[in-house]
Amino acid sequence: MLLDEEFLEACYQYLTSARPIQSIEHLKGREKALRQLVEAIDAPGRHAFIYGDRGVGKTSLAHTGAFQAQSSQDAPIIVACDNQSSFSSICSAIVRRLLDLNPLETKGYKISGGIGAFGASANLGLERPASKQDIKITDVNDAVYWFRKATERINFDPIVIIDEFDLFPIIVEHDHFSGLIKQLSDQCIPIKLIFCGIADSLDQLFRAHESTHRYIHAEHLERLTLGKCMEICDDASVGLRIEVPNHLRYRIAQISDGFPYYVHLVCEKMFRSAHSDKKVAVDQECFDFAINQAIDSIEPRLKKPYENSVHKNTKNSEPILWALANDKLLDVQVSNIWRHYDEICATLKIDKINKANFTTKLNNLSKPQYGEILVKPRRSYYTFNEKMLRGYARLRCAREGYDPGPENPGA
Ligand SMILES: Nc1ncnc2c1ncn2[C@@H]1O[C@H](COP(=O)(O)OP(=O)(O)O)[C@@H](O)[C@H]1O
Ligand SMILES: [Mg+2]
Repeated sequence: MLLDEEFLEACYQYLTSARPIQSIEHLKGREKALRQLVEAIDAPGRHAFIYGDRGVGKTSLAHTGAFQAQSSQDAPIIVACDNQSSFSSICSAIVRRLLDLNPLETKGYKISGGIGAFGASANLGLERPASKQDIKITDVNDAVYWFRKATERINFDPIVIIDEFDLFPIIVEHDHFSGLIKQLSDQCIPIKLIFCGIADSLDQLFRAHESTHRYIHAEHLERLTLGKCMEICDDASVGLRIEVPNHLRYRIAQISDGFPYYVHLVCEKMFRSAHSDKKVAVDQECFDFAINQAIDSIEPRLKKPYENSVHKNTKNSEPILWALANDKLLDVQVSNIWRHYDEICATLKIDKINKANFTTKLNNLSKPQYGEILVKPRRSYYTFNEKMLRGYARLRCAREGYDPGPENPGA
């Protein structure tokens, strides 16, 4: 058994529900995507866009790829969009960070005194732009100008991750970004951009300039397979020296629905419980405890809409969400949801509502006044608005004692 300190250290290393992965050995199931990303970053004039559902692992792939491709000691530059961002704020943040890069890695050493457009830094006599306050970016040309100035002084191609691009609020400024990508490539400015966002945000970028396709390697991330989810649990089991019976590692992977966040979260709670009880192997008690704890500590971003919706729509509606989350497909036909509902109610001995009532409640769950937790991709089909919520519904269903259905289709 590990000592408490060793256990915490190993936990921090293997179970990272609260942060993205940054190293290859912990990044499961992304070998091909990682190789292609690194190749794209290495190719002159190419940038990358990683897209997929929230929580699927986009930031993790971007970080790991950037760390692998970055040829210097300096970590990649990471900026994140939010609903206040603008083209100007994002580009200015990048330039500021570029100007902060390690001066020992600058190129074109100049002796102090040679005052150019940007003056000369007293620090080591290296050329540096005058001051960060000077940065003013309103359009693509300004951005290109500053990116050029900021990269001139370093002797490697910095990698910049622009994360959460789907939160970027100004639709009309998407064309600034596609214009920027084109100009950086055409003018051979040595900087690499990796965007992360959901599919719609990539479409926005391409809509602005058709030709952006040429400059961008677009990597679509699917949910992890069942096997890869189990690997996360297996690695932690070895690192923490606590065994996990086969049926439990399988159940964790199955509940998690291809979202590594849930695997990390449930495993962390489960191993902590085993360690504090001084057990050398996880048992059912640790597993049940972990499911409860995981539900309690789930991100409020996921928990809130789920609970609001169930609350507004009476408690009867929750098994309907479990039924939807139990299908192997994301978009499920009403008749199949009903079939799962029937089975869940029978197993958990829940009073069933009639089909008409069921259909009304199901439909309510897609209405704004009931939280709009579901959407209808086409007639007679429903899906979760936020795919990651399927995993949350599966966790809650498992807590009641019903094991969620088959693994995700990619497994
Ligand atoms: N390939 C992977 N293997 C193992 N864990 C992963 C993998 N990708 C992501 N994770 C974990 O899953 C969670 C969500 O990952 P993240 O990269 O933040 O997703 P996204 O950016 O798509 O929302 C994090 O806890 C991260 O540590
Ligand atoms: Mg992310």
